[in-house]
Amino acid sequence: MLICPVCRNKLIKNERAYICEKNHSFDMAKEGYVNLLTGKHKAGELIGDNRDMARARRTFLEKGYYDFLADELSKYISQDDKLLDISCGEGYYTDYMRRKTGADVSGFDISKEMIRLAAKKYKDVNFFVANIAKIPVKSESIDVAVQICAPFSEKEFARILKKEGILLSVVPGKRHLWGLKELLYENPYENNEDNTEYESLKKIDSITINTKVTLSGQEEIMSLFAMTPYYYKTSEKDRQKLENTDSLTTELEFVIRKFIISE
Ligand SMILES: C[S@@+](CC[C@H](N)C(=O)[O-])C[C@H]1O[C@@H](n2cnc3c(N)ncnc32)[C@H](O)[C@@H]1O
Ligand SMILES: [Zn+2]
Repeated sequence: MLICPVCRNKLIKNERAYICEKNHSFDMAKEGYVNLLTGKHKAGELIGDNRDMARARRTFLEKGYYDFLADELSKYISQDDKLLDISCGEGYYTDYMRRKTGADVSGFDISKEMIRLAAKKYKDVNFFVANIAKIPVKSESIDVAVQICAPFSEKEFARILKKEGILLSVVPGKRHLWGLKELLYENPYENNEDNTEYESLKKIDSITINTKVTLSGQEEIMSLFAMTPYYYKTSEKDRQKLENTDSLTTELEFVIRKFIISE
């Protein structure tokens, strides 16, 4: 399924590296992932989400509050599928979907830090470092592509999907994290739902799922905060409101958009 990011020929895996027929070689890291970024992006660590965000995301997701999303996504995946988790982060959902469905699961992210954490923990998923702008995956090779709260790359997503394949693209719903926003801001706004239309991908369904949860204790509250965009946008004064809070009730809402290849 993986192709060489330099010449686009098939990559063959041996014990320590992935190699193509032109002898371009990509070493496996000790955690078991491979870095397929090339050129100026090779540095990997400097792009995508950083170590603190990766750890906050892991701490929070492992509490299980977002499992209702992974459960819903798993309904569209079967055991025979080749699944690719695009911009998979630290791999929580990636492995969750594998366990729940038995599918053959791979995941990639541009952040080396995220993939390092993912590969260290989840040994039954194939992880690699790559950019959505140039996904090192064979054309028409994926049954289900999942993309959760991450950037979109229409041409590449359409290219890697099999003819009958589907893309499940998740965006935050209007009321996502409303309770957190109410606490932080005087006049919180609802999120704008992403309704972009694409030429090569046709939206065939849109499913909104929501729930209400109560977080308790500073670790849960601050790890949720650190994985949101508000972490960077909030003033010190507003941030202190969170530090003085021990229990937070909030709505969670996601929209799962189901796409197929346009005719
Ligand atoms: C909000 S996080 C979501 C991670 C994961 N899907 C989850 O829900 O836990 C967005 C992810 O997109 C990744 N990302 C950003 N730009 C990217 C790109 N050009 N190619 C691949 N991944 C990218 C980030 O490194 C980050 O891990
Ligand atoms: Zn090559």
